[in-house]
Amino acid sequence: MARNPKVIIIDQDPSSRAETQRMLALSGFAVMGASGYGMEAMTLARETNPEVVVVALEEPIARSLQTVESVGDVLPEVPIIAYSSIGDPAYIRRAMQVGVKDYLVAPLQDEDLGRSINAALAQEERRQQRLTGEVEPQAYGTVVTVFGAKGGIGKTTIATNLATALVQKTGQSVALVDLDTRFGDVAILMDMPTDRSISDLALPDEEIDREAVQSCLYTHGTGVAILPSPIRPSEWHSIHPGHIEKLVSVLATTHDYVLLDTPGTFNDIVSRALEMCTILLLTATPDLASLKDTILALEMLRSWSFPTEKVKIVINHTNDAHGDARVDIRRVLGKEVFWSIPYDRNITQTTQLGMPIVAAKPKAKASQSFVELSYAIGGIRSQPKGMLERLGDRIPLLGKAQAEPETAAEGVPEPVSEASTTPAPEEWIK
Ligand SMILES: Nc1ncnc2c1ncn2[C@@H]1O[C@H](COP(=O)(O)OP(=O)(O)OP(=O)(O)O)[C@@H](O)[C@H]1O
Ligand SMILES: [Mg+2]
Repeated sequence: MARNPKVIIIDQDPSSRAETQRMLALSGFAVMGASGYGMEAMTLARETNPEVVVVALEEPIARSLQTVESVGDVLPEVPIIAYSSIGDPAYIRRAMQVGVKDYLVAPLQDEDLGRSINAALAQEERRQQRLTGEVEPQAYGTVVTVFGAKGGIGKTTIATNLATALVQKTGQSVALVDLDTRFGDVAILMDMPTDRSISDLALPDEEIDREAVQSCLYTHGTGVAILPSPIRPSEWHSIHPGHIEKLVSVLATTHDYVLLDTPGTFNDIVSRALEMCTILLLTATPDLASLKDTILALEMLRSWSFPTEKVKIVINHTNDAHGDARVDIRRVLGKEVFWSIPYDRNITQTTQLGMPIVAAKPKAKASQSFVELSYAIGGIRSQPKGMLERLGDRIPLLGKAQAEPETAAEGVPEPVSEASTTPAPEEWIK
């Protein structure tokens, strides 16, 4: 991508035009010129041959849309980004139909505009590379990074159980990468050997290919493919963020999901794991110390302009005393809670056995929560019901008679908490 991409502005209003020009210049774009709607815009487009067109879509609507269409004819491969004071979805849809790539509703923020232009340019660059055969069109899996501002808050428990639930309940392929640069324990929690590890992939970029990555993967009995961390933390010295980027990209071409478990500390490997993710599960426990650190983590992400839609807050009740504290987590964090995992003493027991609770005790309340989380991540609204459950819906007593002995058999005396079955957002976490 060019260092100072060339941009033109089409805006009827001189003061708004000047303001947009100022924002673009501040964000490092080379503004080649500005015009109003109609012929003037076409002439500017032809003469300057920009890489991006930024257009204000205001009344008269028909005329502004006609201008977009005509500019699109003159510059068919150039992305058009619109901004407007009109937030009406029907109008936004109409703008998309005539060729607008992105539509920003006023008031315009300079970072939003910059981000939108850069995303459009990157997309166009990729499209060109595909056309010229420079890159192979590839399906990419979803990268989920499990991160938290502290140690011991259940990140590895979440990563291992989410991986298992995704494989076993949604039928997707999952690679779980242990990026704990201190004492990686995915292999211990899943009771796996660790002869080969990430350190075997500290290779020149071109040598980290599918074959090399495959040779370091272990397939667990649950079906999850695991890439363990090195046994000795000192081995991390040979691994740099470029290795992680390459191996995660390779795994994303062979697996539906790549889950990255991270340590309770921050370093350049973690930073790359955050940059690469599609979804960030920002994990915290519901105590004030963990929430305070999570606020700092959110501030750090904001300062990086990390896309907020990627950040999903997961509250994990690692301690049954957490049930005593009533904290308005949404208000403290200024963000909705995406998921809440209940305290479940079965987790400690199954951890000792080296099995994720989802596989070892599928009916335990934490397992239900992890399975529902896997549906939420996979975009599946709710678990498909079996025949007996469907019958149970129609004959209430049958449904009850099925459920009760099963729960008791798992030795989970507490009632299934609301949090274990009800997807967030939620306001109060108990
Ligand atoms: N929902 C839960 N209920 C009960 N115990 C839990 C729960 N979640 C995690 N634990 C327990 O909390 C402890 C810490 O969990 P885990 O190792 O997953 O945390 P972590 O964030 O990965 O820690 P580290 O940063 O040190 O790697 C473990 O003993 C685990 O069994
Ligand atoms: Mg861990």
